[in-house]
Amino acid sequence: MKTLLNSSDYLSPEIYEAEQTAIFRSTWQFVGYGHQLSENDAWITAEIGGIAIFVQNCDGELKGFVNSCSHRFSRLRVGESGKGCIQCPYHGWRYNRDGFPSAIPSKPRFEDLSPERLRELRLDTVMVDSIGPFIFACLNPGVRPARDCFEGIAHHIENIGSALGPAIGVVDIEISANWKLVVENTLEGYHLPWVHGDTFGKLDMGYPVFEVIGNQATSYAPVSRATLDGFAKINRRFQNRPYHNEGYFHTVAFPAFGLGTLYGMTFAVQRFIPMAPERTRLQVDLFGTKLDGTIDGINSSILNHFYAMSVEFSRKVCLEDLGIVELQQQGIRARKQGGILSYEEQRIVGFQCAYLHLMTSAPTVCNETTPCRHSNTPIL
Ligand code: FES
Ligand SMILES: [Fe+2]
Repeated sequence: MKTLLNSSDYLSPEIYEAEQTAIFRSTWQFVGYGHQLSENDAWITAEIGGIAIFVQNCDGELKGFVNSCSHRFSRLRVGESGKGCIQCPYHGWRYNRDGFPSAIPSKPRFEDLSPERLRELRLDTVMVDSIGPFIFACLNPGVRPARDCFEGIAHHIENIGSALGPAIGVVDIEISANWKLVVENTLEGYHLPWVHGDTFGKLDMGYPVFEVIGNQATSYAPVSRATLDGFAKINRRFQNRPYHNEGYFHTVAFPAFGLGTLYGMTFAVQRFIPMAPERTRLQVDLFGTKLDGTIDGINSSILNHFYAMSVEFSRKVCLEDLGIVELQQQGIRARKQGGILSYEEQRIVGFQCAYLHLMTSAPTVCNETTPCRHSNTPIL
C-alpha cells in the first residue's frame, strides 16, 4: 500500500502551522503525571500547539490555563513545575482558582476595572483530563473526554499507568526531523534488524501482532525463548509485578503520546513535541514496575542493575532512531511523492489516516478499500 502523505507534508512551514491548529490545539496532549499535582496549588507547565499552558491542583480539582497574564501577557508560571497561588511575576496580579483576577496592585489607578471588565480579564482556560496517572490537556473546548478520544486503547493506557513504579531515567533529545517521521518510526518494527542490531536485535523478537481499533493501534512482538530464559531470574523474583507480557508492547494515542513496555518490567512514556517543521523533541520518561511489599537487599540490587541496563538500552535505541530518522528527513527533500508500506508498517497507515481526517475536510481512504477502516472512529 502507498503512504498517504507526500514529502511536502514533512517539510512545509505552512503545513506545520496548520497542524498546530488542526492537530495539536485540537486533540489531547499528554502534559505530566498525577503525582506531580498531588498537593494543593502544585502546578506543571507544558507547551501544546505552540501555546504555553499550565495545569494546577485547585483544591483537589485539576484546572488548566494559558500561561499568559491578562494585564500585559507575562508568563505566570516559570519552569517545569512548582507550587503556589497564581500570581504574575511582573506587576503582581493575582488570580483565583477559576482564573479571574482577584487582587490587583494599585487597582484605583486603572480607569476601568468594573466587575464586568474583570470577568473579561479571566485567564484563558484549558481542558484537562486524566487516564490513570497520565494528565492530558487540550485547547479545544469541544473535545470529548480523553478516554473517548483514545477509545480502544484507553484500557491499555490505564493498565500501564497502574503498573508504573519508580522513575528510573529520562531520555530527552532533539531530532532534526519532522514530528510525524519520529512518530512513524515508533509505529513499525520493520527497521529493527537494520537499525537496532545492538539493542532490540539482541532480543530476537518475532513478527509483531497488531490490534487496530479505529484510529488507534497496538503492536506486540514476542521475544525468543532464549531471551525469555535470560529473563528467568527477573521473572522468578518479581513475579508479583502487575503487568506481564513476554515481549515488547507499544501503542501511540494519536497524535503524540506513546507507551511501550518490555516484559512488564520497564515502561517508556513517550512525548513527541514538534519544535519546527524539521525539528522534534522526543522526551521519554522511563519507569520500573510497581511491586508489592518491601524488597530485600539482593532483590533490590538485582532490580537496580536491571533498571540501569534498561535505561542504557533505551538511550541507545533512541539515538539509533535519531540517526536513521534524520537520514530519512534529508532523503525526503529529494522526493515529491510518498513511499510504500508493508503490512508490518500498517500502524503508519492508521496514523496518517487520522492525521488526514483532521487536516482535510475530504474523506480519506487508507488503501484501495472504501471507506477506510480507520474512519469509523471520531478523533475529537
Ligand atoms: S503582566 Fe502580569 S501583572 Fe503585569
Ligand atoms: Fe526504532
